[in-house]
Amino acid sequence: MSGGLNELAGKVALITGASRGIGRGIALELASAGCDVMVTARNGNALGGVAQEIRALGRKATVYAADLTADTEPAGLIEALTRDFGRLDILVNNAGATKRGGFLVQSEQEWHDAFNLKFFAHVGLSRLAWPLLKAGKGSVLFIAGTSARAPVADAMVGASVVAAMLAFMKALADLGKHDGVQVNAVNPGSVKTDRFRGRLERVMKKTGLDEAAATERHRRDLDITRFGTPEDIAGMVRFVVSPRGRWLHGTAIDMDGGQSAPLRMSNYD
Ligand SMILES: NC(=O)c1ccc[n+]([C@@H]2O[C@H](COP(=O)([O-])OP(=O)(O)OC[C@H]3O[C@@H](n4cnc5c(N)ncnc54)[C@H](OP(=O)(O)O)[C@@H]3O)[C@@H](O)[C@H]2O)c1
Repeated sequence: MSGGLNELAGKVALITGASRGIGRGIALELASAGCDVMVTARNGNALGGVAQEIRALGRKATVYAADLTADTEPAGLIEALTRDFGRLDILVNNAGATKRGGFLVQSEQEWHDAFNLKFFAHVGLSRLAWPLLKAGKGSVLFIAGTSARAPVADAMVGASVVAAMLAFMKALADLGKHDGVQVNAVNPGSVKTDRFRGRLERVMKKTGLDEAAATERHRRDLDITRFGTPEDIAGMVRFVVSPRGRWLHGTAIDMDGGQSAPLRMSNYD
């Protein structure tokens, strides 16, 4: 964690998907920058552990355990947040559980599940949180992904959800210009979380390599400098929502060790 500046002291952040992985990393990073934090996901025990870590940093933390795809939950979450904190400065729309797979193999339900969580739950949450964010001149950040930059057949669901999320982010940023709410996205590349573990196991099975060799093979296949960590993404989130990052608006920042498509120069250069 970068820090010691306490540049977000007095701010309140709400992080979805904060029970592990990138969301947990963001919750701890924002707490170390001085934020009080509400964490949400389904696993109440894991959230309790994250809340304890936040309190150990000297910040207030509360937990809202819920499946965000349930129709009533975004409203329940904002109600609890209002009761516990009475304000919201930073909303991080991070929860997501999109699966890879072939087009003819993946079910209709998998498409719906992916959109219901990563897209629709966050559209609803952003709408419900907007009056609080507008009142406090706050920030919304989407943790999207790089898959929409170069969609491929076995990540069709993820690329489609990310494309929708980024379009929504851009439109919300347009509204944010008038309402004083900063809106951006961070697109992680391949980050070492539980989801990465599953991918690595598939590489190990396919190649017969041990963990270290499979990790290196996978890195070379992706042609990246290294795999990311939740702390990499969390540090970027902290910067974007800090006073120094405030001029960033309506931007999708790729943070991916160089994986994304080459630079396209404008027609006018
Ligand atoms: N890791 C990467 O390489 C990578 C790359 C690109 C984009 N991303 C995006 O970054 C975000 C975080 O990824 P991650 O790797 O940290 O994922 P992760 O380790 O699988 O964590 C996902 C989080 O979402 C929560 N969640 C899942 N289903 C939920 C539901 N129905 N309702 C509420 N919460 C739910 C999980 O908690 P519970 O299980 O407790 O509910 C967990 O806290 C995702 O949106 C992902 O698409 C990740």
